[in-house]
Amino acid sequence: MDKDVYEGLKPGEARSSGPSVQDILDRDGDNPPSHLREQSYRFLGNEDMDPSRYTSREFAQAELDHMWTKVWQMACREEEIPEPGDHIVYDIGEWSFIVVRTAEDEFRAYYNACLHRGTQLRPSNSQGNVPQFRCPFHGFTWNLDGTLKEIPCDWDFPHIDKDNFDLPQVRLGRWGGFVFINMDDDAEPLEDYLGVLPDHFTTWPLEDRFMSANVRRTLPCNWKVAQEAFIESFHVVETHSQALPMTGDANTQYDIWGDNISRLYTLQGVPSPHVESPMTEQEMADVLMAGVGATKRDGEFKLAEGETARSVNKDILVKEMKDRFGADVSKLTTTELVDPIEYFLFPNFLPWFNFGLPLVYRFRPLGSDPDWCIMDVMLLHPIPDNGPRPEPAPLRVLGPDEPFTDAPELDQISPIFEQDVSNMPLVQKGMKTLARKKGITLGNYQEIRVRHMHQTLDKYITAGT
Ligand code: FES
Ligand SMILES: [Fe+2]
Repeated sequence: MDKDVYEGLKPGEARSSGPSVQDILDRDGDNPPSHLREQSYRFLGNEDMDPSRYTSREFAQAELDHMWTKVWQMACREEEIPEPGDHIVYDIGEWSFIVVRTAEDEFRAYYNACLHRGTQLRPSNSQGNVPQFRCPFHGFTWNLDGTLKEIPCDWDFPHIDKDNFDLPQVRLGRWGGFVFINMDDDAEPLEDYLGVLPDHFTTWPLEDRFMSANVRRTLPCNWKVAQEAFIESFHVVETHSQALPMTGDANTQYDIWGDNISRLYTLQGVPSPHVESPMTEQEMADVLMAGVGATKRDGEFKLAEGETARSVNKDILVKEMKDRFGADVSKLTTTELVDPIEYFLFPNFLPWFNFGLPLVYRFRPLGSDPDWCIMDVMLLHPIPDNGPRPEPAPLRVLGPDEPFTDAPELDQISPIFEQDVSNMPLVQKGMKTLARKKGITLGNYQEIRVRHMHQTLDKYITAGT
């Protein structure tokens, strides 16, 4: 956009040159669901942000005390604990919780601590099956439903009311095949907290997916630094420049709803506005066809009347979902199949809405250390139309120096993640230096999700202090 054009606009009104997401949806002409036609941007200010939000122990502790103790957090997938007694341990900060399936369609979540002297009943980050929760120290035992089962040498504990010595529960909610917990007994119900999310995922029900990848990695940066590497497409031009010929990076659409939800909507199969000599539709289609090793029809591949690189990409994905997963997705529109559309639920849960790259991210601090975090990446592919639900991929845990390319189940995404990860320690260290001179400066439009997230975070911290 020329300077004389954007200088006449109010803050937040300027947009990249090139077609908008909505222009391309018009061109697709296949009538996607109404929420994909929505635009919901608000200008939220342009003040600098204090780098200590990412680097100071005090701020990390304030987040734990006032935010993490109050919010709904995705703890696991239901499919990870398919049988009664199956459980998974979810840690946040210094706290630990057990999520257990207690019956075919019933789940509970407990504080993971023995009511005797506090020993963790199950190890952090573990999962497995038990008939009961038995403390490894002296053997106090609870049933799966949390009621007390046994106190060794109970003659020594006449002061314990056995009918009133259940494992304390943490609140639990379910959506889309995910189990969420909330440490705040007074928090709003998960259904309210989710805002527009369930409505937007009606054509892409996440409960009808299975986890084809489940990878965890420790990263040397604040959890927000890692998360914010994935919530804007502004960085594509510099960090992932190989994607520019077929990615509408700078004309990504950004939306926010309420305090908890935001969305990034990037187009595939259109050239970046940064590219001076864009590929033709035919050239983009050729690259896509070569990428999947496919020949659409005999002889040389030529786009037919009305076909575009995007419509070809859709056809490829429909075929892939059928061949690879036995799922018929042909009724979905082009954008639902092709475009990376990433939703965010405050504070740290990011389910993507598309089949080409059906990712889910979760970010959280490692203990209370502001300089380290845990990133979880899942792939949620469709379950077969006919036939059993595939087994979920086992959790693969990577250390800070083990690249995502060590997880072949992540497929072609790993090298892209490595590009993102390479920036993270530089950001974490550089912000400490920057803080000597100034704050962090954000773009009004492309980085609105970063500011939106911090403003919600501030609401919790302000309310708590
Ligand atoms: S600490 Fe658990 S039984 Fe003693
Ligand atoms: Fe990236």
